[in-house]
Amino acid sequence: MNFCITTPIYYINGDPHIGHAYASIAADIVARFKRLDGYTVHFSTGTDEHGIKVARAAEAKHMETCAYSDMMAQRFIDIAKRMNIAANDFIRTTEPRHIKAAQAMWCMLEHDIYKDRYVGWYDARDEAFVAESDIVDGKAPSGGTVEWMEEESYFFRLSAYQDKLLEYYEANPDFISPISRRNEVIAFVKSGLKDLSISRSQFSWGVPVPGDNKHVMYVWIDALVNYLTSQGFPNNDVSKWMNECVHIVGKEILRFHAVYWPAFLMSAGLPLPKKIFAHGWWTCEGQKMSKSVGNVVDPNIVADKYGVDQLRYFLFREVPFGEDGDFSEQALQNRINYDLANDLGNLVQRVLAFIQKTKGLFTAQYCFQPEAAQLVDHAHDLINQMRSHIDEQNLFGALQCVWGLVSRTNKFVNDSRPWELAKKQDPQLNSVLTALCEAIRAIAFGIAPFMPDTAKKIFEYMNIEGKSFSEIQIKFVDQKFPVPSPLFPKDTHAC
Ligand code: MSP
Repeated sequence: MNFCITTPIYYINGDPHIGHAYASIAADIVARFKRLDGYTVHFSTGTDEHGIKVARAAEAKHMETCAYSDMMAQRFIDIAKRMNIAANDFIRTTEPRHIKAAQAMWCMLEHDIYKDRYVGWYDARDEAFVAESDIVDGKAPSGGTVEWMEEESYFFRLSAYQDKLLEYYEANPDFISPISRRNEVIAFVKSGLKDLSISRSQFSWGVPVPGDNKHVMYVWIDALVNYLTSQGFPNNDVSKWMNECVHIVGKEILRFHAVYWPAFLMSAGLPLPKKIFAHGWWTCEGQKMSKSVGNVVDPNIVADKYGVDQLRYFLFREVPFGEDGDFSEQALQNRINYDLANDLGNLVQRVLAFIQKTKGLFTAQYCFQPEAAQLVDHAHDLINQMRSHIDEQNLFGALQCVWGLVSRTNKFVNDSRPWELAKKQDPQLNSVLTALCEAIRAIAFGIAPFMPDTAKKIFEYMNIEGKSFSEIQIKFVDQKFPVPSPLFPKDTHAC
């Protein structure tokens, strides 16, 4: 079973921030879940290094563009590592393998390409051509400043794909998600597609157009091809991954992925991805994050202060994936104190420490009472419940499933009072503690995609490998647990 997932590749004209970390962590959570579920996963991420915006950023720093790219790409590689992103590939668009792939793609599109002149507006921040009718007070709808452009350019016959795209959306209702975004895309395509300018001739920081060195490719053609490059294009048959591929993208770049990208792939006769999922945006304390306001959240700083797993959990528990969210330290602290330290951390700590203390009292002979049996059934069903959410990229729903089991397990501890059973040397203790181990093991697997380091600690405490969901079904027999230490020590997240 194959599964493929991608993040957007990030522009390197600024430092990585929480929004970049967000998209990468989302893809990482899904990739980790699928690996634990027995899939062979291809997960790619990377940096988008060409285009006028990056060239200008290098110039502003008085650096050679290549040296600037190396320096900035490294920061994105570092943040991926820091956030525990277990990608199979980090792709830089300046790598020779990608330049080769982008040029091969261009050649496959040639029957839909013609030369003309672009005369109109361009928004360098979004690397997007903007229609005159969309400009308000000199700004693109996204807020970027537009500049006038007149130059010779190659065009892609996008207009020829309008009906084919609409038919495709109709026949594949899950191709664009969430549904509200799908409707926006359909409305946009229905309003009429114009041919797209796909080369620039006034600067040279890009992939040269095959056969015409005066032009470099429009940065979006170059960038979108990264998904194929990572799958070994043009040497490999990409259908193995493309047919199972989910592109995670921010809502602002959905049009490029859901309109231009499938049109290019149709033109080239290549398979389309399975799905494009558009997520929402984070603001900070109610305001759009921006360098000039100085409120850009640096994921390194948050991770230093609160921990990587804590941040990963917060981002997907605070706001349903797909919707916009607002980042605040107070909200993060609340999640850490209530959900992580109190609900999850205390549960694991008190149960495992108690088992440690019971030593010879607790044996593998058990006969479940109804409540214990129900808890175990719930635990064994957790991954099934989560799977349907993960397949819909509903990461919030998947976490709710885990916390449903956490609450039930906490209630079971309180109701069954194992410490009293131990005092009385009641044989029910075996049943209660075995059920609790089953529940905690399932919880550890449930949190593993979201908080891999925390799950690893629980796996270690319980002598579990933690490599596959199939381990959940192994009945507990070994009680020689090491003494657990708290999963979320309170003093590390004091304000
Ligand atoms: N280089 C293009 C993407 C090319 S993909 C073939 C690009 N790069 S970007 O760096 O500007 O943004 C990439 C992505 O980062 C966004 O689509 C989104 O996933 C994420 N985010 C950047 N800022 C964000 C927030 N403030 N909030 C949430 N995520 C946002 O566009």
